[in-house]
Amino acid sequence: MPLPVSPTGRSLPWPTPGLAFGGDYNPEQWPEEVWAEDVRLMQEAGVTIVTVGVFSWGALEVADGEFDFGWLDRVIALLHEGGIAVDLATPTASPPIWLHQAHREILPVSRTGERYWQGGRLGWCPSSAVFRAHALRIVRELARRYGEHPAVRMWHVSNELGGGNRLCYCDESAAHFRRWLDERYGTVAALNEAWGTAFWGHQYTDFAQVLPPRDSESTPNPGLVLDFDRFSSDALLEHYLAERDALREVTPDIPVTTNFMVAQGPGVVDYAGWAPHVDVLANDHYSLSVDPNREQELAFSGDRMRGLDVTRPWLVMEHSTSAVNWQSRNRSKAPGELVRNSLTHVARGADGAMFFQWRASTAGAEQFHSAMLPHAGTRTKVWRDVCELGRILGALAELRGTLVERPQVAILIDDQAGWSWNSGQKPHHDLAPSHAAREYHRALWERGVTADVVPPHAPLHGYRLIVVPALFLADDRAAAAVSAAAHAGATVVVTYLSGIVDETDRVRAGGYPGAFRELLGVFVEEFFVLLDEEQLSLDNGWRATTWSEWVHADAAEVVARYADGPLKGHPAITRRAVGEGDGAGAAWYVSARLDHRSLGALTDDILIASGVRPTVPVAAGLEAVRRVGETGSYLFAINHSGEELRVPASGQDLVSGSRADGTLVLAPGGVAVLREDA
Ligand code: GAL
Repeated sequence: MPLPVSPTGRSLPWPTPGLAFGGDYNPEQWPEEVWAEDVRLMQEAGVTIVTVGVFSWGALEVADGEFDFGWLDRVIALLHEGGIAVDLATPTASPPIWLHQAHREILPVSRTGERYWQGGRLGWCPSSAVFRAHALRIVRELARRYGEHPAVRMWHVSNELGGGNRLCYCDESAAHFRRWLDERYGTVAALNEAWGTAFWGHQYTDFAQVLPPRDSESTPNPGLVLDFDRFSSDALLEHYLAERDALREVTPDIPVTTNFMVAQGPGVVDYAGWAPHVDVLANDHYSLSVDPNREQELAFSGDRMRGLDVTRPWLVMEHSTSAVNWQSRNRSKAPGELVRNSLTHVARGADGAMFFQWRASTAGAEQFHSAMLPHAGTRTKVWRDVCELGRILGALAELRGTLVERPQVAILIDDQAGWSWNSGQKPHHDLAPSHAAREYHRALWERGVTADVVPPHAPLHGYRLIVVPALFLADDRAAAAVSAAAHAGATVVVTYLSGIVDETDRVRAGGYPGAFRELLGVFVEEFFVLLDEEQLSLDNGWRATTWSEWVHADAAEVVARYADGPLKGHPAITRRAVGEGDGAGAAWYVSARLDHRSLGALTDDILIASGVRPTVPVAAGLEAVRRVGETGSYLFAINHSGEELRVPASGQDLVSGSRADGTLVLAPGGVAVLREDA
């Protein structure tokens, strides 16, 4: 599958001939003698591309307008001689000290009005004109100097935009926010209506009176908070586009990327809105040590990344070879875990696997973060696993451009809906916006069913099963698309906390879940939040925690009722047949948060109802995903268990080089990628 077309009308090339393999390379942290060894070891590991210069502004522009490109010239030449491609970063994620000293006003301002200090990274206000001018100058210098260099195959704009400077409350941001509001609403009356400013008598009479939601020691207006989140995403996007366009002016045919962080829902920016502007969609993913379901979380993030655009491959730009350094306890990876983790990303559509970072730093903020080349050197588990991964990715080169076999299930997720749930006071304050998406995804993952985790405005045509998990905000367009899919024959499962507010953050009155009420044939008169230790039974033996609701099944059949508590006898789960004949779909409503076992039972039921089947018959601990394309059909089988697993499949295993005839035997913790027999 091609990347988007460049401004000159050419289909942009993927940066490497096969799959991308490498990581952030920060040679400026090391004496030059080390570089030759770096390139030699990169070759030994099978590295094909490295990201250079992410944090090197201070080393490239040593004083205002004074550039030192000599070292970068030499590094790029060395990499090129070694056959390693360069993903050249614009260094704007980390302004140099001289810039902060000269222009303290570029640093972001907190909610309480304090300006941050130099010494961190992403230390800049997205709306700062002074910062923008300095950033674009170094970007243009880089584009002109290296745009023609044959090693440079991709531009990497800044780093994790928003991861540190997502919200700036300074006066310049406030003015920018007001311009954004003026464009969105046109009149102050429309703004007052959208935010419901009659509450507490907070009507504005002029846009000039509007401020960002700065600390008022009280609860801010949730509509204001949501719009400030949206604005902040757009302000950062404006910055990204300015850098991208500066690069494109000089090198229109080099793809441009920037690294997302989709796992952390809701995103620091609205990734669905950003995706169309990024040539190579890239994600950074780090597992949490405390997450007992981290393999599934990894799959979830891959499915979410693919869901941003199911027609293109993406890239895992950063993950870790072992422990990170920023969690409370930083867990190391067991032997083989690195390979399984990376292959999960590739199975789910990544055309490569890259890491932070190549050589472990001995100094600086990340001196205890793992790397491809650890402090201890090459006589290490990490190095062996890195080399094994390099070998495997090399053997999978022919997969580049294939796509994940079209999933039959879509799970809807939305950054804006997440921000909305997080804005202001809500009925429950400890429920993550994406908790239900993760739980339904996990139930499907355990059953070997691959799902696209997609934004609500993605095309829903063709999915047999569509899950709408606690999608707090749904606009009319999203509601209509879900309804149309059910009328076209899909099984739709909507959970509690969906469609509660419209795009202005206003509650849809007349009974919850407003946006989906008609489709579901139910109305909810009140939420019944459960305390942490509380549980409810349903009359079919299932159990609910955290959340329940007083449901009226006006035009739907009741699948299960609450069996105890104040809602005893009331519907808990309903189903409404939608449409007729072959195209008949169904709309289920699940008003409670089910425990894991009960959600599994529900999932079995809805899989049968929708006719969705797993990729292969599943065994506990097996992750199986198929990629397909012109070169063939490829079955990824990853064994997360400590047992040997047998998978019914036939083909050539590109990992081991051996054949499977009818049964693929996977060692404990083992991986295989079968080119399946036609
Ligand atoms: C990422 C970041 C990297 C590195 C890494 C550590 O968020 O982009 O530069 O800091 O985290 O896990």
